[in-house]
Amino acid sequence: MENKRGSFKGSLGFVLAAAGSAVGLGNIWRFPYLAAKDNGGFFILCYIILALTFGFALLVTEIALGRKTKQSPLTAYGKINKNFRWLGTLATAVPIIILPYYCAIGGWVIKYFTTFVTGKGVDAAGDGFFTGFIVSEAQPWIPLIFMAIFLVVTAVIILGGVNKGIEKMSRILMPILFILIIGISIFALTLKNPETGATGIDGLKVYLIPNFKELTLKTAFTTIFDALGQLFFSISVAMGIMVAYGSYVEEDTNLMKSVNQIEIFDTLVALLAGLMIVPAVFVFMGKEGMTAGPGLMFIALPKVFAEMGTVGTVVGVIFFVMVLFAAITSSVSIMEAIVASLMDRFGWKRKTSTIIVLVYAIITGSIVCLGYNKFYFELPLPNGSVGQILDLMDYVSNNVFMPVVALATCILFGWVAKPKSIIDEVTKNGEKFNRKIIYTVTIKFVAPVLLIFLLLQAFGIVKL
Ligand code: PFF
Repeated sequence: MENKRGSFKGSLGFVLAAAGSAVGLGNIWRFPYLAAKDNGGFFILCYIILALTFGFALLVTEIALGRKTKQSPLTAYGKINKNFRWLGTLATAVPIIILPYYCAIGGWVIKYFTTFVTGKGVDAAGDGFFTGFIVSEAQPWIPLIFMAIFLVVTAVIILGGVNKGIEKMSRILMPILFILIIGISIFALTLKNPETGATGIDGLKVYLIPNFKELTLKTAFTTIFDALGQLFFSISVAMGIMVAYGSYVEEDTNLMKSVNQIEIFDTLVALLAGLMIVPAVFVFMGKEGMTAGPGLMFIALPKVFAEMGTVGTVVGVIFFVMVLFAAITSSVSIMEAIVASLMDRFGWKRKTSTIIVLVYAIITGSIVCLGYNKFYFELPLPNGSVGQILDLMDYVSNNVFMPVVALATCILFGWVAKPKSIIDEVTKNGEKFNRKIIYTVTIKFVAPVLLIFLLLQAFGIVKL
């Protein structure tokens, strides 16, 4: 089995691929709206603290587990301890749930990209454009086509394999993405609303400075747990992906250094995404615009681009290219976790596994898209919101499956196989393991407590 495994050529390729997985719609679409909703600076502070402790511990563990076992998630956990085979199945279930809806959103991004590139960006600013598209009452198959295009592009990259597909794509797309996001962020800070006089710098203050006056115990807890949930999704842990990518890492790669780079990259992009979206929306729509929630990117931002006139069309094109790159590098990792698991478990070829996963994703992704028209229903979720199929899948994967996988991972490596098994893998070439104490305390105590709380909250047992 081992000789059939692909591998990343060099640590840069690995870091870019893992960062490609981490940097995605979560950073650009989810982080800014959570920051805007949750007291900006305070949310960012919680996020960074959690990233350096909780996120770091899980990321190191999963990558080291992958490299140690040379297995994909489905079989890796069982190799450490037979009683934890079920954990592999559960971890693989997460990308299976996420892939369809992630690709549905990827399809929306393609739709926006094509709208802007064909010079019709102003249409996207119209009220009802977003809803009109996802509902597409007269032609409900249209969102399906965009989703399928997104999925096929993802599958083609996967077919290229670890080295010629995933690594090559990451080496090309990630640097471009980074340059684009820095460019748009700087541009956002120079904005000024001629009517109100609001500037990007004013928006920056709202985004970065914590508002302790408005902070209550309840909002503080909500913010901490929003940050925790976001962190999981954002660094792609508790879903098998980093295990799969870790299994392609060469033996002499410095894991500690790579993990730090991946985290910095991911956090930086999330911060920059907020930096370009929050001030821009603030300048043109005021503080109310920032409460647009998930609609910040698809509804509020196109309105901002329209306000900018011709420049807005160009910025809109660049922005959606960037989002598309971020989404594709992530969806590739989600699909790879499933494809690799099938290859390892059943000995299937990459091509066979990819085609099976593609067919599965097209069918389930179509159901997700049709959840806004043909299969429309309103489902109350335990967090008080009402959702469609997409929200249900997002809720189940993020609030139930991922915390359970993470909790079981903490039990496995905190108490059963012990933190030493990971520390030894990371330091086997004589590297230093920074933050050893933080790692041990987090994986044994802090993370399990936070996760149990998160789960109790997800099941509506504890209400904030
Ligand atoms: N981390 C990616 C993001 O922030 O968008 C999303 C993601 C990647 C989710 C891989 C799930 C996953 F398996």
